[in-house]
Amino acid sequence: MNKQSAQFYPMVPLLRAAEISSQEGKAAAIGAFNVNFYTQAEGILEGLRRGNAPGIIQASRGANKFQGGPDKIAGMVKHAIENTHHQLPVALHLDHGDDEKAHECVDNGYSSVMIDASKLDLEENIRATKTIVEYAHPKGVSVEGEYGKLAGVEEDVIHEKTTYADPYLVPYFFHETGTDALAIAYGTSHGPNKGKGLENLAIHVVDESYRGMKAYGQNNDHFLVGHGSSTVPQDIVAEINQYGGGVKNAAGIPMNKIQEVIASGIRKVNIDTDLRLGITATFRKYFVDHSHIEDNSPEVLQPIKKVLDENPEVIDPRDYLKVIDVELLRNDPAGSVLEEVMILVKERIAAHVEMLVRKFGCAGLGNKVERVSLEEMAKIYQ
Ligand code: G3H
Ligand code: 13P
Ligand code: ZN
Repeated sequence: MNKQSAQFYPMVPLLRAAEISSQEGKAAAIGAFNVNFYTQAEGILEGLRRGNAPGIIQASRGANKFQGGPDKIAGMVKHAIENTHHQLPVALHLDHGDDEKAHECVDNGYSSVMIDASKLDLEENIRATKTIVEYAHPKGVSVEGEYGKLAGVEEDVIHEKTTYADPYLVPYFFHETGTDALAIAYGTSHGPNKGKGLENLAIHVVDESYRGMKAYGQNNDHFLVGHGSSTVPQDIVAEINQYGGGVKNAAGIPMNKIQEVIASGIRKVNIDTDLRLGITATFRKYFVDHSHIEDNSPEVLQPIKKVLDENPEVIDPRDYLKVIDVELLRNDPAGSVLEEVMILVKERIAAHVEMLVRKFGCAGLGNKVERVSLEEMAKIYQ
């Protein structure tokens, strides 16, 4: 019998389900979770399933490079959906893309792409974003832009301070570009050290942006995105440090603040760092619990352990997983020497994703998403 190939949803119907829920009195945002390897995708899917939540799986340019290109990521995530018989709506999204990568992802199986032209001035940003919209929409692919600058590191760009989005220009940005979603800078930052910036959180930027969108009747088709939203759980950080790590000054966005921005109009919440921390804690604990590994499985696990031992501060799994064959990481590890640790990784991610989707209000929305294919979405855009 022919197995049906998994289809990614455009991002729009997922975000719209969150918007409708919010209008009906239950504020909601869709979780968008970064992926770098196969088990991470399975863990995210399992968490979504436990919460009956639609979800966005996203890959950065770095993740695409790590796995050898957008086609590899798309194949890997499809494979995870098929292997786990996942039935809930999932979008595959490019995170912080540039012009070239956005085109490539539209052509290689993604259902949504981000063009982050936030380092350009507003009019150039609008032009760059519109170019991608004009390329993606005829294929039904959704687009996210970014306006304002987050403090800290975004792919290859480092900003000292937040440059907030001007809420009065947000409806203008949507109108001029036709972008489906827009990441607005309101004081969050990427990574595990958000502490210093937390006093800069400007939730009124979200409030006023959303109010403007409503005034122009944009809010059923256009949606606000919050980047840098990891909660950085202190128990996970403590576990990393207990098992040989050295993560310092770790602080995330408090959950009540995330819920406040969702109540103010954010419909997509990006989470990467929390998953990195969970994966790293799992590997570190595993190596302490299985100290025989050095003798038994030198070819695969030992080099990973060596990187972790020599670099207490690492939290990006790619830094220690890159020492093994990436193909092992693109496939279901069942039956391989990685299987045992990957089962733990999957469970760690699933538990955290489930907790987050419940807090984000999108648990239970799995059956509330309109089933729209990319072909149908392309016709809607015409
Ligand atoms: O932009 C931030 C995301 O956390 C992606 O990170 O570019 O290191 O994969 P990455
Ligand atoms: P965190 O570093 O807070 O997880 O942010 C993720 C993100 O914004 C991905 O684009
Ligand atoms: Zn981001």
